[in-house]
Amino acid sequence: MENFIRINRKINSFSKKIYVEGDKSLSIRWVILSSLSKKKSIAYNILQSEDVLSALNCIKILGSKIKISKNKCEIIGNGINFENFKNKKKLILNAGNSGTLGRLILGLLINSKKKIKLIGDKSLSKRDFSRVTAPLKKFGAKFNKSKKLPIEMEGLESPKRIDYLEKRGSAQCKTVVMLAALKSIGMTKIKAKKSRDHTELLFKYLKIPIKIKKDRNYDYISIKGVKKIKPLNYKIPGDLSSCAFFIVLALLTKNSQLLIKDININPSRTGVIKILKMMGAKIKFINQRKYKGEKISDIFVKSSTNLKGINCPTNYNSSAIDEFLVIFLVAAKSKGISYFKNLSELNQKESPRLIWASKILKLLGIKNITTKSSIKIYGNPNLNFNKKIIIKSFLKDHRVFMMSVIAALTFGGEWKIHDSNSIKTSFPKFLEILKKIKA
Ligand code: S3P
Repeated sequence: MENFIRINRKINSFSKKIYVEGDKSLSIRWVILSSLSKKKSIAYNILQSEDVLSALNCIKILGSKIKISKNKCEIIGNGINFENFKNKKKLILNAGNSGTLGRLILGLLINSKKKIKLIGDKSLSKRDFSRVTAPLKKFGAKFNKSKKLPIEMEGLESPKRIDYLEKRGSAQCKTVVMLAALKSIGMTKIKAKKSRDHTELLFKYLKIPIKIKKDRNYDYISIKGVKKIKPLNYKIPGDLSSCAFFIVLALLTKNSQLLIKDININPSRTGVIKILKMMGAKIKFINQRKYKGEKISDIFVKSSTNLKGINCPTNYNSSAIDEFLVIFLVAAKSKGISYFKNLSELNQKESPRLIWASKILKLLGIKNITTKSSIKIYGNPNLNFNKKIIIKSFLKDHRVFMMSVIAALTFGGEWKIHDSNSIKTSFPKFLEILKKIKA
């Protein structure tokens, strides 16, 4: 199959209702936590993308039994201590393209006495792992090297509790320590800069002994090791990070509106909505409800003119970290200058996204001043593009691909966008849903 798409004209006005696929963070967490229960866990609407399939593959190698059909996935895990795991060969786990999986699985392996080798694709092999090997060393894990994959890790039978300070606002780092804490002796204490809290909510739902205190910038989490955990039955809500691309499409397309159903609007994920609203976007949550600690809602978006540039508050950074690429497109079409700072983490993703955003905006004729951790975007409400453009992100970053598609459909021009296969990692139905919106 072709691994690129061509877009030669703007999208027409639309008024549609769509569903997006299941939340990736919750899908991967469900897989990992289910692998710890010896009873059957069932999930509906799990995201069936390469990242989640890699997670299923990893826990299968570690001894879990998996049954998966179109909309349902069942896991019978092998307990906190990999009790049923008999494989004698050297273990190789492949996290593919997924930073979340690659990092979280190391937390899970803290008590694996077998040496494991963790590998990943070209993009993942460039990403930083010292952020998780450092706290795992404190628990007593040994590594052949600590910075980049491939890495070999040896866990230990009885890891001991640690104190850990998480300063980046990284939910991955926090979760790695939470998973290792679950398997350790004593009470691990984490002081973590605010980041998505799905793991905390799932721990609470599973009645794992966890205590959380909060102040303005940090959460203080205490977790006691346990001997077993309950199965986790879950209906995974839609992914806000996926629907953000369509939210922006609706915002920037004249006379359009979009209703997106059943989306996870956990407040630690809704930075994108808060930022877009600050810029003047018309977005509403409709029919809000709660599900196992998470907030779910339908989202209604209307095309918005009169968007204005903002000085983006940095306390939204963590809760919008995966959505900045499309937020930058809105800034490009807004009146005035937008400024986003303290965003060095954006260059630590599947590809250096700040650099990519700057490049694409420049190709569109949008002036921007970009440093290692910030971008200043000089918006142009009359932005109308009519040139030829080729996008080839050599690390095959799914979000760079999807951002480019939304830019092509809203700003015009003749685009050839490479690496359409990259959507398989996180949002395989992206182009299919787009077709439905266009129809
Ligand atoms: C994720 C956390 C974020 C995010 C990633 C998913 C998670 O990464 O970018 O897509 O599921 O915990 P960091 O924790 O590194 O910021």
